[in-house]
Amino acid sequence: MKYIDEIKKRKTFAVIAHPDAGKTTLTEKLLLFGGAIQTAGAVKSNKIKKHATSDFMEIEKQRGISVATSVMTFEYKGNLINLLDTPGHKDFAEDTYRTLTAVDSVILVIDSVNGVEEQTRRLMEVCRMRDTPVIVFVNKMDRDGKMPFDLLEEIERELHLRLHPMTWPINSGKDFKGVYNLYQKNLRLFAPNTKADEDDAEPISNLADESLDNRLGSGNAAQLREDVELIEGVYGELNVEDYLSAKTAPLFFGSAVNNFGVREMLDTFIRIAPAPLCRPTSEREICPGEEKFSGFVFKIHANLDPRHRDRIAFLRVCSGKFERNKFYHHVRLDKDVRFSNPYSFLARQKDVIDEAFPGDVVGLFDTGNFKIGDTLTEGEQLYFTGIPSFSPELFKEVVNKDPMKTKQLEKGLSQLTDEGVAQLFTQHNGNRKIIGCVGDLQFEVIQYRLLHEYGASVQFNTLPFYKACWITSDNPQKLEEFIRFKTGNVVLDKDGHLVYLAQSEWFLNTEMTNNPEIQFHFSSEINKELIA
Ligand code: G4P
Repeated sequence: MKYIDEIKKRKTFAVIAHPDAGKTTLTEKLLLFGGAIQTAGAVKSNKIKKHATSDFMEIEKQRGISVATSVMTFEYKGNLINLLDTPGHKDFAEDTYRTLTAVDSVILVIDSVNGVEEQTRRLMEVCRMRDTPVIVFVNKMDRDGKMPFDLLEEIERELHLRLHPMTWPINSGKDFKGVYNLYQKNLRLFAPNTKADEDDAEPISNLADESLDNRLGSGNAAQLREDVELIEGVYGELNVEDYLSAKTAPLFFGSAVNNFGVREMLDTFIRIAPAPLCRPTSEREICPGEEKFSGFVFKIHANLDPRHRDRIAFLRVCSGKFERNKFYHHVRLDKDVRFSNPYSFLARQKDVIDEAFPGDVVGLFDTGNFKIGDTLTEGEQLYFTGIPSFSPELFKEVVNKDPMKTKQLEKGLSQLTDEGVAQLFTQHNGNRKIIGCVGDLQFEVIQYRLLHEYGASVQFNTLPFYKACWITSDNPQKLEEFIRFKTGNVVLDKDGHLVYLAQSEWFLNTEMTNNPEIQFHFSSEINKELIA
C-alpha cells in the first residue's frame, strides 16, 4: 500500500467520560465491531473502585501492567483504528489529559441520567485547548434519564459545545423504543443486547407513514414526528468542516451495554473523523505526509515488578515511517538511539513490529532515557508542543525516613516524575522537595513504588496549598521582589520554571491584584514557553 494511503486509513482517537458513564462498555462494543475481541467482558475495566494502594497494585498486576490495553488497534470497514485508553480513575486524570495530546479526535460518553459531570467538564476543557473534534454519545438510554432536549441544552451550555443530533431517541427507560437516524432516515428499534453483525435498521422514507404508529405506538410516533421536524428545522445537514474544526459535535443516543446505537456512531466516526493531522512544534508545523520520521512520547508506563525495572514509553508517530533498528535522534538528550523491539498493539496483543505510520502508537522499551514530551526525529532539532501540565490539587512535602538512601530517593523521585506520575517542586534557594498530585491515590502509589523499586522510605507531610501557578514577568525586578517577599510560597518545577504555591483562592486573587506586573499561569506546557 502506498505510504499516503496508509496514513489516510488511520484514525487515532480516545473515548473519554466521567467515571461510570460507560467508557469501558462502549470501548468493548467498538472492539467487538472491529473483530478485535470475540466476547463481551474481554476488556477489563481499569477502574479502581476503592481508594487503596493494594487495590491499585493488584489491578495493575492483573492488567499485565496495562500495556496491552493502553492502545487497542482494530480494523473496521477498511479503516485502521487506534483507540487510546485513558485511566478510569480521576486521580490519574493528568495521564488522560496527556493521552489527549496524542489523538486526533475523541468520543465523549455522557450518562443520560447524570448528564454533564465534573470530569466531563475538565476533559472537554483539555479538548478545547487543542480544538480536538468531538463526537458525543449519550449513553444509558435504557434508563429513566433526562429528557433529550434538556440534555442537549445542558451539554451545550456546560461544555460550550454546539451539538448536531445525528440520531434521536424515542422515549427512554423501560419505554425506550429505539433511535431514529436523522442522517440515513431510518429507524432502529431497541432490542437488548444487539449482536455486532445485526443490521436491522428499517428505512423510513416518510415519517408520516401510518405504519410508524403501529410500530411505536401513536404517542411515541407523534412525539418523534414533532421532534424530528424541530431538529431538522434547526440543524439541517451536518457540516463536516465544522466538526473537524471543533465548532460542532455530532450527537448520538444509545445504550452501550445493550450494544444499541453504537454502530450508527461508529459508521459516522469512520466517515468523518480526521485521519492523522498536522501538529505544531517549536520550529514549524509537521504534517504526516512528510518523508522524514518524527514522533513524541506522551505516556510512560512502568513495570511494577521490581525484578524488571524497565518501562515502556508510548510514542505517537507524527510524520514519516518509523522503522525497527533504525537510528533516530533523541532531541532532548542530543543522542541517537535505536529500538530493536518496538511494540505495536495490532491484533489482540502486543507484537514486535518492523514499521509504523503516522497516527500509530509504538511502545518503546526504556531504561530511563525518556520523559513525557520527548521528541524523536531523523536529526531535526525540534520539540512537539501543546503537551500540557496542569496545577496539582494536593501538595505534600517529602520527608526522607532513611538518610542512607538519599541517592536512591532522588533517583526515584526524578524517574517517577519523568513518567508523569506526579509533579516535583523544589524550594527556591533550598532543598525541600514537594510533590504535587491530583489525587491521594497517587501519593500512595509513589510511596509504594519508591520503597519497592528504589528501596527509599518516605513519609509525606501535607502542605496547606491549593494551587500551583507558574509565574513570569517582563519586569525582572518585580519578580525578584515577589520571590523575596513570598519565599515560603515560591518553588521551582522540574524544568526550573518559577511556581507560586497559593494557600487559597483568596490569597491567589490578592497576589494577582497586588502584583499586576506578574503573570500567573494556570497551566504550563511541556517543551514550550509558558502559556496563559
Ligand atoms: P466507565 O468505564 O465509564 O467507568 O463505565 P463502565 O463502562 O464500567 O460502566 C459503568 C456501569 O454502567 C457498569 O455497571 C455498566 O454495566 C453500566 N452501563 C454501561 N452502559 C450502560 C447502558 O447503556 N445502560 C445501563 N443501564 N447501564 C450501562 P456496573 O454495575 O458498575 O458494572 P458491571 O458489573 O455491570 O460491569
